[in-house]
Amino acid sequence: MKIISVWSPKGGVGKTTITAHIADCMSTKYGKNVLVYDADPQQTFYHTYKGGTFNFRATDVMPENVPDCDFFLIDFKPTIELSKSHKELLTMSDKVIVPVRASRVDLDSAKAVSRFVLSEKVINVLSCYDKRVSDQRAVKEELASDYAIISYLSIYARTMNDFKTIYSRETKNLHGTTRARKEVEDLVDRLIEGVE
Ligand SMILES: Nc1ncnc2c1ncn2[C@@H]1O[C@H](COP(=O)(O)OP(=O)(O)OP(=O)(O)O)[C@@H](O)[C@H]1O
Ligand SMILES: [Mg+2]
Repeated sequence: MKIISVWSPKGGVGKTTITAHIADCMSTKYGKNVLVYDADPQQTFYHTYKGGTFNFRATDVMPENVPDCDFFLIDFKPTIELSKSHKELLTMSDKVIVPVRASRVDLDSAKAVSRFVLSEKVINVLSCYDKRVSDQRAVKEELASDYAIISYLSIYARTMNDFKTIYSRETKNLHGTTRARKEVEDLVDRLIEGVE
């Protein structure tokens, strides 16, 4: 069992979106047994995905024992003031995905992650990246090349609004799905390679 946390000090940067899509990619495309723990009191993930027919499972309760799954994903709340148990979860994680928007202020705030997580465990993701915006392109050019990219695509927001993901059957032919799947699969490949 591998533990993957999705955490950023900043709010609204795509943590829950990324968690949902990698969970569905791992379980639907790669046949992995995936359990997602919603560690955010807002419970966005749990409320969105508890009721649907998905190949992954969702819980809002931290399991007392080691969960029976291949991947245990944790959707964190946006804060740098972590509780003791959340710090422990980060320490136990095999990888920590840190989404950040293409802005210097956001990149600065993400530096705090290094106080809690070893750098070799971090997978940086440039999230909601819109290449049409010149300021974002300029920030991206300054970044190290190891950032995974999750673009600003309406399909990510649209599927979650409909309690679905880009791997749901109904989504297959919608505009943007092929591109979004490629991005999510690149991220999942990197994750799986990194932990195996
Ligand atoms: N790649 C994307 N493209 C377009 N919209 C996105 C993308 N990622 C997230 N969004 C939208 O941005 C908003 C915030 O996303 P999300 O809830 O995933 O962020 P979060 O980091 O989990 O927020 P919080 O810190 O409140 O938990 C949502 O409306 C979501 O649909
Ligand atoms: Mg969230």
